[in-house]
Amino acid sequence: MSSADEEPPGEAPADHRASDGSPFPDRSSATFERDVQAMFTHIVRRYDWFDHAASLGNDYLWRPRALWDLSRFRRNDPPVTRVLDVGCGTGDLTRLSARYFPSARVVGADFTEAMLRIADHRTRPEATAPRVGYLRANARRLPIASASVDVIMSAFVARNLVDLPGVFREFRRVVRPQGSVLTLEITEPVSPLIGRLFHSYFDHIVPWLGAAVHSAGPYRYLPNSLRSLPSRAEMLELLRSAGFSRVVAHSQSMGIVTSYLAGAD
Ligand SMILES: C[S@@+](CC[C@H](N)C(=O)[O-])C[C@H]1O[C@@H](n2cnc3c(N)ncnc32)[C@H](O)[C@@H]1O
Repeated sequence: MSSADEEPPGEAPADHRASDGSPFPDRSSATFERDVQAMFTHIVRRYDWFDHAASLGNDYLWRPRALWDLSRFRRNDPPVTRVLDVGCGTGDLTRLSARYFPSARVVGADFTEAMLRIADHRTRPEATAPRVGYLRANARRLPIASASVDVIMSAFVARNLVDLPGVFREFRRVVRPQGSVLTLEITEPVSPLIGRLFHSYFDHIVPWLGAAVHSAGPYRYLPNSLRSLPSRAEMLELLRSAGFSRVVAHSQSMGIVTSYLAGAD
């Protein structure tokens, strides 16, 4: 695992903590990125099972389906030889894409050291391990040469970013001509009825589950962060403005998650 010039997360300041002391990042604060790192460091051991529990197991389907959307989108593009998974966390999508693209070298990048440690540990026993590496880096300044990667992917990261348009421009710099970007994110369901159920679930049940495992802050932050995300149409416009010529969105699970795909000329 190599490391770029990232600050250690340290402790979240007292006013960015929930009543049980767990980090509760505030998007308007100058320390937001460090607080996000502190939050992921705090939940690192629970991250995967909480993810499976909070999504009622649907996350097992979302990532493979997003890769399938990506391969249909790239039908006429050159074979994938280099993949970058930004905000890779514990590496689920990184490992999956190494299996999906059998000739590709795959790098997972994340700015939270504790998440990368788990990603690395889980990857070692896999047959694909020789083709997979991890890198500590901030999505805003990727330590990667311009026009050097066929596919950049990023799952459930966008809502944590301070400068989403800037990150999409950084992705555009790093992808090769005929390269693609896949961004998978939780989105507002298409049906208003499902939307009401979705918001009650994220606003009440998820924070309650979080408090039960001494992580009230992170799981109150989750519904707040969903509200900060641009709509589907705005996300597509941001990708276009970053310089991608072909952009589409594919929703899954009645719109609860969406894969945004963007292609570079
Ligand atoms: C919700 S987790 C998603 C992890 C993984 N992609 C998955 O599908 O499970 C978000 C991850 O994004 C990382 N992250 C957030 N902001 C980042 C940034 N600016 N640069 C790099 N990583 C970031 C966090 O450290 C965390 O590991």
